[in-house]
Amino acid sequence: MLSVTRRGTFAALILSIALSPALAASPEPVKAEHGMVVSAQHLASDVGVDILRKGGNAIDAAVAVGYALAVVYPTAGNIGGGGFMTIRLKHGKTTFLDFRERAPLASTKAMYLDGKGEIVKGASTSGYLAVGVPGSVMGLETAREKYGTLSREELLAPAIRFAKDGFVLDQGDVASLGNGAKKLSNDKAAAAIFLKPGGKTFEIGETLVQPDLAASLTSISQNGPDAFYKGAIADDIVKASAAAGGILAKADFEQYTVRELNPVTCNYRGYEIASSPPPSSGGVIICEILNVLEGYPLSYLGYGSAETVHVMVEAMRHAYVDRNSALGDPDFVENPVEKFTDKAYAKEIREKISPFKAGISKDLMPKGMGESTETTHYSIIDNDDNAVAVTYTLNGSFGAGVVAPGTGILLNNEMDDFTSKPGSPNLYGLVQGEANAIEPKKTPLSSMSPTIISKDGKPFMVIGSPGGARIITITLETIINVIDHGMNIQEAIDAPRIHHQWLPDTVFMEPFALSTDTLKLLSEMGHDVQIDASWPVWGQAAGILVGGKTVAEIEKGGGARYNGAMDSRATSGAASGY
Ligand code: DON
Repeated sequence: MLSVTRRGTFAALILSIALSPALAASPEPVKAEHGMVVSAQHLASDVGVDILRKGGNAIDAAVAVGYALAVVYPTAGNIGGGGFMTIRLKHGKTTFLDFRERAPLASTKAMYLDGKGEIVKGASTSGYLAVGVPGSVMGLETAREKYGTLSREELLAPAIRFAKDGFVLDQGDVASLGNGAKKLSNDKAAAAIFLKPGGKTFEIGETLVQPDLAASLTSISQNGPDAFYKGAIADDIVKASAAAGGILAKADFEQYTVRELNPVTCNYRGYEIASSPPPSSGGVIICEILNVLEGYPLSYLGYGSAETVHVMVEAMRHAYVDRNSALGDPDFVENPVEKFTDKAYAKEIREKISPFKAGISKDLMPKGMGESTETTHYSIIDNDDNAVAVTYTLNGSFGAGVVAPGTGILLNNEMDDFTSKPGSPNLYGLVQGEANAIEPKKTPLSSMSPTIISKDGKPFMVIGSPGGARIITITLETIINVIDHGMNIQEAIDAPRIHHQWLPDTVFMEPFALSTDTLKLLSEMGHDVQIDASWPVWGQAAGILVGGKTVAEIEKGGGARYNGAMDSRATSGAASGY
């Protein structure tokens, strides 16, 4: 079945298109010649384009969009959380900024367990004990100082304006606030901002004004990150945390630092992938899965076929067990990045994959592990081909659901990304081990995968997504949909998704992702496939393809320079270009 020989890429592409089921109709990608910004909130995308038009580069735009999303996309946009920025400068140098949260100094390995060693439900996801030391402000300012060209005041001005004057809520904004209403109603300061008097939710066309957030952003604009880490903002957060049984201390804020790291890189069928290194698992695991898949003729086997899905699932199964057992903060654990991204290791994995039978996850259980949602991504490219991919997050939707009174800043619940107890699943069902155990100042292992792909020394694709543990497979599937299946960037993002993360030993699929025939074949191989329609786990990818909307168009020449696509699953996002 999988002994089919590899054909020429072009012939295989034509064949696979001819054999593929009709793809779901997708809108055309947005085309532009000078710059492109794709984010989960249209007002923030426009902020980015304005910055590019006035001469800012992609990094300037990324900083301004980061601050703007903190106001207009409160479910995930933030200054009270953290994230990652992958940068590819115009001459090809790539770098990575890690501004993810760190565990407070007073944190302990067993802080979410009761006297009997059982997990205290909600302790790592709600309230101040769930909050990691935020990194976004330091991260955005580091990006601006090192790689930007405009002043802090210019880049913060749009966010301050949206917070002070308010912005008109559209259907997506209202839906997002509605989804968070229950969580937000538990915190007086959060409810006062994001709910109307009497706990009523906002309606379409109403204006959300955030004066406290405007004041916090203004003090950051005037005094830089010190306003957040050394000044009144840190004091207010520490005070609120102490009053609610949290452990955040002023020293946590004073000691926070951003790391500049080398992205993880690998080559997939001639394309150079640059993605997130530890403390993210994203780049490593995307590369590991791609290396395994490179040995199969995916283009020939076809999008959504049982054989394609089978090898994808098996590659995911093997890569996620590596993720969950071996990866963690590089300042605390030795990450086997070279091994996991080595082509020879991928070959070893392929040799373990039966072409006819599903693997069994518990057979891969590493020693000592036992058994057991909201982020946002944006992609930007400028007229000089500087490219930036940012994924940042509060972790769950609206984070821990708490706002320190007076700050207007929603705080993250990133502590849940740690292993609260080896073998017990976290918010995303991830069963993780000791490498990701809680320690003071340690960063929890992430799946966020801001990725930039180059070909022949030129940028090819900027991509990433939210989606918890599924970020990795969402990003991966978009990449193979473009490279192997010949889809345009919007089709690649919109195509229904599948996911496997080792445990649970289940293939999750979006509704309609696989035909009844395919499901039958997969079930005969031993796969347990379940439809999962839950929101927002399937993500909201944001991508840009350079030189055409498809690989075929790029190779032919003459396509639009920048082709932007915001996930059709997103409710208020937009690709905006000029
Ligand atoms: O860093 C991570 O992997 C998670 N905190 C990301 C959370 C996320 O994507 C939630 N969005 N749906």
